[in-house]
Amino acid sequence: MNYLTNDKLVIVGAGGMIGSNMVQSVLMLGLTPNVCLYDIYEPGVHGVFDEIQQCAFPGANVTYYAPAVEDMGNPEKVAEAAKKAFTGAKYIISSGGAPRKAGMTREDLLKGNCKIAADFGDNIKKYCPDVEHVVVIFNPADVTALTTLIHSGLKPNQLTSLAALDSTRLQQALALEFGVQQDKVTGAHTYGGHGEQMAVFASQVKVDGKPLAEMGLSDERWQEIKHITVQGGSNIIKLRGRSSFQSPAYNAVKMIEAAMGGEKFTLPAGCYADIPELGFKDVMMALPTTIDKSGVHYTVPTGTKEEMADLQKSYEHLCNMRQEVIDLGIIPPINEWNKMNPNLK
Ligand SMILES: NC(=O)c1ccc[n+]([C@@H]2O[C@H](COP(=O)([O-])OP(=O)(O)OC[C@H]3O[C@@H](n4cnc5c(N)ncnc54)[C@H](O)[C@@H]3O)[C@@H](O)[C@H]2O)c1
Repeated sequence: MNYLTNDKLVIVGAGGMIGSNMVQSVLMLGLTPNVCLYDIYEPGVHGVFDEIQQCAFPGANVTYYAPAVEDMGNPEKVAEAAKKAFTGAKYIISSGGAPRKAGMTREDLLKGNCKIAADFGDNIKKYCPDVEHVVVIFNPADVTALTTLIHSGLKPNQLTSLAALDSTRLQQALALEFGVQQDKVTGAHTYGGHGEQMAVFASQVKVDGKPLAEMGLSDERWQEIKHITVQGGSNIIKLRGRSSFQSPAYNAVKMIEAAMGGEKFTLPAGCYADIPELGFKDVMMALPTTIDKSGVHYTVPTGTKEEMADLQKSYEHLCNMRQEVIDLGIIPPINEWNKMNPNLK
């Protein structure tokens, strides 16, 4: 089997639903044979390791690290396993954090998962400072990714968060509305936070080449479609009794494939924003982005007055969540970030 690269890819949270799906997708898409699974829960990741080996992917070199069952929760043993897993990593995707349960918002997860993100960033700095690209999935992804970036010392274009599902949910809703094949809906993007405060943009959407504005969609119906988009993740929880895992796994793997030099990733990704013309800085947020071998690149979003006002609101919400993480002492105040990460001004 031909692989895109031989570089080491670490999947953090590999014992979980998204993680285990990612391991399989990476090998099915032929990204790299050298896949290292890491988790703090040994039986889960051990089971994934066994299953993947039993798939018998040609040429695969899969390893796994976790503290032994009797050492689970012992910080020294967890650190030992992390060291083994992270050393030599060139690419990392992490879904290693708690998922949402019914009735919870992504923001409810903030405290626990941001602490995990701080440790994750510290591990990157200690054990694989030469990593090329990192994709953060665990929620609330905008702030866990920001926390990881600050702690890791990486350059802003080396770290992205998974934010594409809001856009693919909008694309799906519009395709169903107009009865067209899903990829005939283009430009269906959401920007800002990957949370209930996301900004849903309609002005660049085309349905089978025709601008959405010419499709005769009532404002009332558009508001419903926006609601369906924003509630897309909660709806999966309602239907399946658990948080989504196939779509995040696939899209995160496509992001890392692009960073490895494969097909470019052009759906919105969460990235570190520095946009003076809009007054956006010191946050990670979904923007119009492209990920390629040289990292993530963004452009300034454009839209109607209302869309830009929604984006502004979303940015303010992200600033509030950032402040919560600062108040919890998980990240330093903004003017001290560059002591921890000199790549942040
Ligand atoms: N960004 C997105 O679009 C998006 C979409 C869906 C889910 N998510 C988030 O992804 C995360 C994972 O979801 P899931 O369904 O795979 O959950 P899961 O519970 O099935 O798996 C999470 C795994 O992470 C492991 N883990 C927990 N803390 C860890 C740590 N400190 N280090 C390493 N591993 C650790 C757990 O042991 C578990 O195996 C959740 O936070 C969820 O909210 C994000």
